[in-house]
Amino acid sequence: MINIPFSIIVESEFDTDRIAKSFAEILLPGDIVILIGNLGCGKTFFVRSSCISFGITNVSSPSFAIVNEYEGSKIVYHFDFYRIKNVNELYDIGIDEYMKNAEAIIFIEWADLWKEVIPKNHYEIQIDFLDTNKRKISISKKNEK
Ligand SMILES: Nc1ncnc2c1ncn2[C@@H]1O[C@H](COP(=O)(O)OP(=O)(O)OP(=O)(O)O)[C@@H](O)[C@H]1O
Ligand SMILES: [Mg+2]
Repeated sequence: MINIPFSIIVESEFDTDRIAKSFAEILLPGDIVILIGNLGCGKTFFVRSSCISFGITNVSSPSFAIVNEYEGSKIVYHFDFYRIKNVNELYDIGIDEYMKNAEAIIFIEWADLWKEVIPKNHYEIQIDFLDTNKRKISISKKNEK
C-alpha cells in the first residue's frame, strides 16, 4: 500500500511496476485515474502493471480505439485522449456514461487534453521522464474541476 500524496524517483521498469501494483491495491470500483506525462514516459506501462493486480494481463495502448475495456477481478476502462481532436468525439462514445459507471475503474491517458470531461474527484498520476529508465512518479488525489 502507498500513502497519497506520494512521490518517488524510480530507476527501473521493475520499480514502476511495483509502485503501480501497490497503487492498484487502493483502487475501488468507481475510481477514476488520470495519467499525465509526455510521450513514452510510461503511462500505458503503469496501467498495464496496475491491471495485473486485477488479473488482467493483456493491456495494450488504447490510442487508436480511444477506449479498451477489460474484465478481471475488476472491470477496467482504459482511455487515451491523445488522438481526440474534438470533445464531441468523446461525447459520441458516451463519455459521461462511462464516467458515471460505479462498477468500473477508469484509467485515462492524456486526460489533461480534455479536462472538461473529467469528474472532479480523481487520482492523478504524473510521470516525468528523467532518463532512459528513470522516472519521477507523483500520485495525488484531486477534488476540483
Ligand atoms: N522506469 C520505467 N517506468 C516505466 N516505463 C519505463 C521505465 N523505464 C523504461 N520504460 C519504458 O518506457 C516506455 C514507456 O512506454 P509507454 O507506452 O508506457 O508510454 P506512454 O506514456 O503510455 O506513451 P504514450 O504517450 O505514447 O501513450 C516503455 O517502453 C517502457 O518499457
Ligand atoms: Mg500510452
